[in-house]
Amino acid sequence: MSLLASRWTPLLIGLLLSIGAVGAGFITGTEHLEGAQLSARWTSRVGVPVFLTAYLASTLFRLSKNDLTKTLMRQRRQWGLAFAWTHSVHLAALIYYLVIAKAPPELITILGGGLAYFMIYVMALTSNNWSMKLLGKNWKRLHVFGIHYIWFIYVFIYLGRLADPELNHVGMVGSGIFFVALIIRLYAKWRKPLQKH
Ligand code: HEM
Repeated sequence: MSLLASRWTPLLIGLLLSIGAVGAGFITGTEHLEGAQLSARWTSRVGVPVFLTAYLASTLFRLSKNDLTKTLMRQRRQWGLAFAWTHSVHLAALIYYLVIAKAPPELITILGGGLAYFMIYVMALTSNNWSMKLLGKNWKRLHVFGIHYIWFIYVFIYLGRLADPELNHVGMVGSGIFFVALIIRLYAKWRKPLQKH
């Protein structure tokens, strides 16, 4: 089996990306506080491709069945777990940054972000056949809601960046990527009934 097709590959990629994000943040930050802020920022950014791979794996498979999409489809649970990992590193990095910056987050951030973390861990813990059987139809409802809630938090944060003159280009690219991903998902769903004819 090639390395790309291994079920461990998503976890390895998530591990390397998050270690790289923390390292790059502290290396490029001109002082320790800036390094911590960049680490918090970049640990979230590296979660974007990992999240989108999990978000689009079954969609891409539905649109085109080839070796790559078959592999992604088989690994989609591991991509989800890899995202739970990268965002756990984001959590550690942001707590460290907020503590040393002495900047407690607003209540709305704690509630909105906290629910996202709750969904991330509930989804990670139920990403197994046993939970699927136990939860029946509710498993799909839980995972579809959870993944779109995380999608919403990403979009909400990136749209918020549009008001920041220094980071509005990041906001534009970030929110654009997430809207394109949603459109691809909806398109694949809409196209499926057409394929039956
Ligand atoms: C209570 C929970 C959370 C807190 C307190 C928090 C805090 C932070 C902090 C301090 C930063 C760095 C800010 C900066 O760039 O100056 C950041 C960046 C970011 N976080 Fe979180 N975060 C939380 C949860 C989440 C979740 C659940 C997501 C996504 C699902 C997320 C996505 C992001 C994004 C997209 C960025 C900006 C990355 C960029 O500029 O490209 N965060 N967050």
